Amino acid sequence: MREVDKLNSVEAGKELDRLAKDIAEHDRRYHGEDAPSISDAAYDALRLRNAAIEARFPLLVRPDSPSHRVGAKVSAKFAKVTHRVPMLSLDNAFDDEEVADFLGRVRRFLGLKEDDPVAVTAEPKIDGLSASLRYEKGVLVQGATRGDGGEGEDITANLKTIADIPLRLNGKPPAILEVRGEVYMTHKAFAALNKRQDKDGKPTYANPRNSAAGSVRQLDPAITARRDLNFFAYTWGEVSGGAISELPAKTQSGMLEKFESYGLKVNPLVRRCETLKEILKFYRDIESKRAKLGYDIDGVVYKVDRLDLQARLGFVSRSPRWAIAHKFAAEQAETVLEDIEIQVGRTGKLAPVARLKPVTVGGVVVQNATLHNEDEIARLDARIGDTVVIQRAGDVIPQILRIIPEKRPRGAKPYKFPQQCPICHSHAVREVDEKTGKTDVDRRCTGGLICDAQTVERLKYFVARDAFDIEGLGGTMIELFHEKGLLKEPADIFALTQKPEKVSKVLAEHRAALSEERRAAEGKEALKSSGKKAKPEKDREDKVVENLMAAIERRRTISLDRLINALGIRHVGETTARLLARRYLTLDAFLKGMTADDALEELQHIEGIGGVVAEAIHDFFDEPHNVKALGRLLEWLTVMDMPAPAKSSPVSGKTVVFTGTLEKMTRQEAKARAESLGAKVSGSVSAKTDIVVAGPGAGSKLKEAQAHGVQVLDEEAWLKLIGGQK
Ligand code: IVH
Repeated sequence: MREVDKLNSVEAGKELDRLAKDIAEHDRRYHGEDAPSISDAAYDALRLRNAAIEARFPLLVRPDSPSHRVGAKVSAKFAKVTHRVPMLSLDNAFDDEEVADFLGRVRRFLGLKEDDPVAVTAEPKIDGLSASLRYEKGVLVQGATRGDGGEGEDITANLKTIADIPLRLNGKPPAILEVRGEVYMTHKAFAALNKRQDKDGKPTYANPRNSAAGSVRQLDPAITARRDLNFFAYTWGEVSGGAISELPAKTQSGMLEKFESYGLKVNPLVRRCETLKEILKFYRDIESKRAKLGYDIDGVVYKVDRLDLQARLGFVSRSPRWAIAHKFAAEQAETVLEDIEIQVGRTGKLAPVARLKPVTVGGVVVQNATLHNEDEIARLDARIGDTVVIQRAGDVIPQILRIIPEKRPRGAKPYKFPQQCPICHSHAVREVDEKTGKTDVDRRCTGGLICDAQTVERLKYFVARDAFDIEGLGGTMIELFHEKGLLKEPADIFALTQKPEKVSKVLAEHRAALSEERRAAEGKEALKSSGKKAKPEKDREDKVVENLMAAIERRRTISLDRLINALGIRHVGETTARLLARRYLTLDAFLKGMTADDALEELQHIEGIGGVVAEAIHDFFDEPHNVKALGRLLEWLTVMDMPAPAKSSPVSGKTVVFTGTLEKMTRQEAKARAESLGAKVSGSVSAKTDIVVAGPGAGSKLKEAQAHGVQVLDEEAWLKLIGGQK
């Protein structure tokens, strides 16, 4: 299936027609005949696809669109479950070196020496779907999907039908125990299910993972019960008490043994490994057994075995620092490089995209791949017409690994990377870093403000989900409004609300042009233009404009971090924008800071903002044009102050200095923990310092602290202050 982004309007129109027909037919079978011919999941996928295409092409929405008929189908709804301990994901390693890096990071963080042993468990990474089972006093009371990690769906009744999942645990489990693991389907069960589906004239599933997922999300548990599913337990969520000391074991491997004793299924291949060599041997071993296991795995998971070390290591964003998934090699395929297209991004970067002859890699049709940059094309010596090997790993954009020289067509010429922007024809150059003398890998258009591609991409970025998030104002509309002279800079978006008739007119003309195009493509005669539109069509168009105006109006109030992100400053994304917003809290303070004489210096002192980023921000505000455009934008906006940092931990908002030798943790670890509790860690003591944590051997800083009358704690007292908090 083509990505929605890649559809042109003719294709989109045709697909919407087809979807409307198909969905109506499925509705009829479901309601009228009580004999659906596709799974709920497949049906949901059709509706989602329809909605996605409509979102991108609002003008093509059919009067009889399935999206107008909400509830046409009893919507498959499960109750929501909030995970009391979030269900996290894992970081990936794709080769041996990345596994070694992982162990290195763990050792460094824990302050261990290079060859100190760190025992890990190595566990097959089951390719199914994760589920959480809540046992209270040993009785299964709730089962949930992972969902987005914070909130999942209540599928208790379905999970209870799985034989591997005990309804009551043996032995003496903790009073509350959330067991987490993977629901999966064996190859045998999968083949049998598909055979049955086929015999019954029902569609077959693509792979065991999909069929397991489809099976646990059946509204009728009787259906789930007929699907031979399995479960392996591998981790846990909430456990009564919460502290590690209350857990039934002190290690990951010990916990798995306990799970087994409670009657849960644990993967029999799990092994405890002591060295990198042992880990990698285990990995190769499993890889060679992979085909014969009888169920799908997509890698091996390594977890630091000792739970006290896990607690010290903690988490970085959504993954634990104490675990990593070592994935099996990605799937590869051969195809033909049909063309190289250059796209110009928001920052003027010329990005080469490979257009490929469509090919299936690991169940997904691939027709585009990234070529990264000029040097990469040269390294591959990729030429149009070449046969190439592509690789797809997980959800990442497919890559071209190499070309196959023997298959090169005669006369294929080396690719010449354009030296001019394909959009505005300005020179495209590779900047040389003044300090390092290094040439940038990317060639950039020098057109800046005159480059339409950059203008349009910046506007698209401005309205995107994590910036202004203006519903209904998608990429196509931005392009259209820009082309018609309605949009040049962000302020113009808000000015649209003053000219709804103009917007209507542009949209109506566009729609007329589109339907002409469609008719022409279908070989039909041109419509005699009567000048009048059918009433329902006109009403629908009015509604589109009305909704758009309302959506823009709603965003005239915006939070400071979103505003900063939306500006599209080079190197400043969501995270940096938030850092800046949290540092300045109000728009006034932010603008003052950015336009002050010592702005650059101040930026460089913000925790988490590096030199390159600080300079990019400074450059942005140094350019009078940017400041003026921002001024015009602000005339439309009310910018909300950031909430002052949460006072939830005893040290949030405090400035802390560590000095001397710490015995229970490394400096790095101490800093990470303090920061995660909302404290600011500084390297020097001043009157602004709130707490100095002094270990043995503390010298001048301790004296300064005493001189400033700053509270001084030893490591023990500090740990007590921050309590059992991770
Ligand atoms: S541990 C905080 N162990 O992989 C760690 N996950 O990419 C939580 N998975 O969502 C996960 N086998 O669905 C863990 N032995 C295993 C696993 C495993 C498969 C899945 C799980 C998780 C995903 C993360």
